[in-house]
Amino acid sequence: MDKSYQKLIQGNKLYAETKIFQDPEYFSNLSKGQTPNYLWIGCSDSRVPANEITSTHSGEIFVHRNIANLVVHTDTNLLSVLEYAVKYLEVKHIIVCGHYGCGGIKAAMTNTYHGFVDNWLRNIKDVYHKNQEELLVIKDEDDRANRLSELNVIEQVRNLAKTTIVQEAWSKRKLHLHGWVYGLKDGLVKDLSVIHDGQKDIDSIYRFNINGTKAKATEVKSAVPVVKLSQNRVTIKTKQRRVK
Ligand code: CO
Repeated sequence: MDKSYQKLIQGNKLYAETKIFQDPEYFSNLSKGQTPNYLWIGCSDSRVPANEITSTHSGEIFVHRNIANLVVHTDTNLLSVLEYAVKYLEVKHIIVCGHYGCGGIKAAMTNTYHGFVDNWLRNIKDVYHKNQEELLVIKDEDDRANRLSELNVIEQVRNLAKTTIVQEAWSKRKLHLHGWVYGLKDGLVKDLSVIHDGQKDIDSIYRFNINGTKAKATEVKSAVPVVKLSQNRVTIKTKQRRVK
């Protein structure tokens, strides 16, 4: 049997001994409960560990990770983590953190058949399709993948904002959603400045009237496509209209 797993057991012993040496009450304090301020939704990639790259400690970040940091509105695992973090832990910030050089993003950009995981990657293909005008002009494949990593994060932050869980929280308190991309080559996080902190940041069709209160739809402009048919040509123009 491969014995490489023993390195983890030994590492764990060293970890526990070091912590107790530094602070004898460390584990007894942590065992009392957790009050993290942040929910982290990141990629499963082994090179992007939430605590390590943010210099935070146990108890500071509630973490959910999956391939390519996706927020899929039918994913009961993610929704359960989200509900627990928002409703019960009352986190103040939710961070979707993607990363450059993401294997999931790269795989989604090809026509290669991988198997079941392609159904998951389909969510990224949809982000690609939605933004293909911008992506197709980027000739370098790595640059295109990196831009898709950013666009994917932006889309997942939007997906978070569309959930009933986040909107219910917004009706009662402040909750900030952030989109970041981590660089494997320099270890630095890039803040994409896609902060969402209210229903105003999402299109009206995705807003819910929580607690019988009407969403303030009139404050926001919504893109309404106008379809024209003339001389067998269909033209679609997007006009900015106020929603009533
Ligand atoms: Co990844």
